Amino acid sequence: MSLVYLNGEYKPIEEASVNVLDRGFIFGDGVYEVIPIFNRKVFRFSEHIIRLENSLKAIYMKNPLKENEWDEIFNKLIDSLEESNQSIYLQITRGVSKRDHDITIANEPTIFVMSRPMSTSTLFSGIKAITHEDIRWKYCDIKAITLLPSILLRYKAKEDGAKEAILIRNEYVTEGAASNIFVCHDGKILTPPKTRHVLSGITRDLLIEILLSNNLPLTESLINENTLRGANEIWVTSSTWEIVPVVELDGKSVGRGEPGPIWQKVNQLYQQFKDNYCN
Ligand code: PDD
Repeated sequence: MSLVYLNGEYKPIEEASVNVLDRGFIFGDGVYEVIPIFNRKVFRFSEHIIRLENSLKAIYMKNPLKENEWDEIFNKLIDSLEESNQSIYLQITRGVSKRDHDITIANEPTIFVMSRPMSTSTLFSGIKAITHEDIRWKYCDIKAITLLPSILLRYKAKEDGAKEAILIRNEYVTEGAASNIFVCHDGKILTPPKTRHVLSGITRDLLIEILLSNNLPLTESLINENTLRGANEIWVTSSTWEIVPVVELDGKSVGRGEPGPIWQKVNQLYQQFKDNYCN
């Protein structure tokens, strides 16, 4: 039977509930992780736990569990599902307190983890994207559950028949509403450097590792709108999407309007890496 984890207990999702005074519900006061599971193996476990710790630290919280405890929870949930590819959603909030902005009055975090089947990306034939001003806050390196701007941006994209919004802050590209971005321009592969305006994507970091170890010309550099619009290829990355080619931007074809040759190569390298890791 499919189970979820809530504050030390495993139960069916229908039986899992939290107090309405939980600060996650009242204030969006918490952080989360999305972790892909391929062939029942947790992909990039340590990297996700390190990012979780960084997010927690940034909101003045501590990791409530040890690595081996997270590992045990993940495996129990993975085992409760038949599908071998899954995505784990983990959320930690500051817990229940009276409704007061003061964070020091909360002392017991709420820990929730679930796993869901994950189908292989259907987006490899390419997606449409729009550009939009980055309307999020200034601490986008924190994987905060407070996602209202991001879901509004995704809705904007959907309204325009697109799948993702590529965000621009002070004339430079930051990332997608829920993905990081890579741009092929003038023989180079570019991705914005990590700043407080960019989430430290686990897929992004792995892709950089793969590109560099295969002597592909990757540079972490600021990308302005002209470079974005003049790109031969654009890809967006995330744990659940992997590496997805953007074939149309604001209604105009990117390159030839189909997944480009560099994406084909890079995706193959990524899939190989994944297969070696998970088999
Ligand atoms: N989001 N940037 C943002 C704003 C994101 O929300 C995500 C992922 C990424 C990619 O990070 P990673 O490669 O570690 O998945 C970048 C997840 C999938 C989500 O919110 O569902």
